[in-house]
Amino acid sequence: MDTRFDLTIEEAAVLLRGGEVVAFPTETVYGLGADATSAEAITKIFAAKGRPSDNPLIVHIGSTEQLSQVVSEIPETAQKLMDAFWPGPLTIILPKQAGIAENVTAGLSSVGVRIPAHPAALALLQSANIPIAAPSANVSGRPSPTQARHVADDLRGKIAGILDGGATEIGLESTVLDCTSTPPMILRPGGVTRAQIEAVIGSVVMAESLAEPESAPKSPGMKYTHYAPQAPLYLVQGDDARFRRLIAEARAGGKRVGILVPADQTDYVADVVLACGRAGDPLSVSKGLYAALREFDEHGLDVIYLAPFYTRDLGEAITNRLQKASGHRVI
Ligand code: TXA
Ligand code: MG
Repeated sequence: MDTRFDLTIEEAAVLLRGGEVVAFPTETVYGLGADATSAEAITKIFAAKGRPSDNPLIVHIGSTEQLSQVVSEIPETAQKLMDAFWPGPLTIILPKQAGIAENVTAGLSSVGVRIPAHPAALALLQSANIPIAAPSANVSGRPSPTQARHVADDLRGKIAGILDGGATEIGLESTVLDCTSTPPMILRPGGVTRAQIEAVIGSVVMAESLAEPESAPKSPGMKYTHYAPQAPLYLVQGDDARFRRLIAEARAGGKRVGILVPADQTDYVADVVLACGRAGDPLSVSKGLYAALREFDEHGLDVIYLAPFYTRDLGEAITNRLQKASGHRVI
């Protein structure tokens, strides 16, 4: 298939309405969209990504008027969250409407839905005027794409086209909140933090499997390896001296070592030193994180070491993705 890189919003909308698969920017990461009411169109998403069919997709809409096509019920808590955070990086899981194709939700009776806060995404969704299912536009297991170039690297020849909207703002996927259980449960931390959610609807819980990879996943997507560079990635605990010592030891042992550090702290001796964001500014880190994880693959490394970045607020999502990228390898 010839992938078009020069799509206008109107052309992308026509392709989506015609049952084709098109990548588009959102404020989080690039999505790989198709008509959520057409099982045939959705099949093409799973094929292009190589995504396991038991992992459900998020449905994107351009306005709350389309909500009744996607969900069958809107509890008051969900309504409050929509009022507070949409358009924005919060996916809300609610009971599914019959018109949504079965393979969008992997057979589940619930569906994840969000209105993204990106002008091109909103214009596209409004122009297509159908609910659009869209996972991140990467090959399954790779870091999510935060630039059109990443989408092209992964999916060239496999999809109808890419709507280029430049680099995405947040760089990490949306928060996924299950509102079919009481209290609501965060299945994936993301751009909207737990504290922000709790300020609107009171206490929520974190899915246990976020902290303990061994326990049963609440969200199908949580059990798969994600965002992983080719070289093994280790999260290094302890102080800076220990971090430096580990790098030196691995290099003395003949290994090519890559590290990722804040842009204002790059005085390390390693084979590849990638900089990402600034200490004290988690958004600047989340923005560049996946591009950095992809870049490691260009350097033929034997091992990648990462010192912990942040743990609070948006840092919770950053830590979550780094734990997944490392396959929970902590030293
Ligand atoms: O920011 C984002 O959320 C991006 C952009 C494109 O919107 N999309 C995205 O989609 O990250 P994806 O497919 O890569 O991740 C969707 C996650 C998966 O972990 C999936 O298992 C979970 O949401 N999910 C979707 N529907 C669900 C449902 N009904 N119940 C539980 N988990 C669900
Ligand atoms: Mg994904």
